[in-house]
Amino acid sequence: MTQDELKLLVAKAALPYIKDVAIIGVGTGSTVTHFINLLADFRMDIEGAVSSSIKTTEHLKKIGIPVLELNAVNGLDVYVDGADEVNAQRQCIKGGGAALTREKIIAGASKKFICIADESKYVDVLGKFPLPVEVIPMARSFVARELVKLGGQPIWRENCITDNSCEILDVHNLKILEPKVLEKLINDIPGVVTVGLFAQRPADVVLISKGNDIVTL
Ligand code: 5RP
Repeated sequence: MTQDELKLLVAKAALPYIKDVAIIGVGTGSTVTHFINLLADFRMDIEGAVSSSIKTTEHLKKIGIPVLELNAVNGLDVYVDGADEVNAQRQCIKGGGAALTREKIIAGASKKFICIADESKYVDVLGKFPLPVEVIPMARSFVARELVKLGGQPIWRENCITDNSCEILDVHNLKILEPKVLEKLINDIPGVVTVGLFAQRPADVVLISKGNDIVTL
């Protein structure tokens, strides 16, 4: 199977989790794109969705699903999103698609975060995928120097402005042995908007497509 076929397979596996759910949270990325396409086909019981990015909002609207503000709903039961890396503790690196801030907010506001990933995303130790950090533009160089002190090698994602008008540093060469500790340390740097480590609030269920099978963590 190609990686794209694996993404479709795992997107399908998320459908039972949204049965009887009226308003869902929807992430961003190519795996989620498959998931939204499936919503168009099956529609399920969805009355509306809270979106994690402008790209996802446009896609949802295109298939006729009303997009609601998070402020307009009283929390969410289920949030479905992909990941760039995920470990056995269901902790993730996210933000490859630059939507980490809204993704983290929606994950935090949801009772159940269902992470959908193909097998290439599963790792023993997080950090091979460069860790995205969204920063206030004026703080970019300062934050980068602080990230070097933490042992990383930050690279500015040039020509990338997030949906929140901020910028992204991708931190290379991290071997993240204590994800919760590192998440807090990076969160505490002034100028950091969001770090793409989802460790303090990990996924509740991780679905991984492996060959023709789905592994559930
Ligand atoms: C976007 C994300 C995505 O979930 C992550 O990049 C995975 O993307 P894809 O499904 O395209 O592999 O965090 O900010």
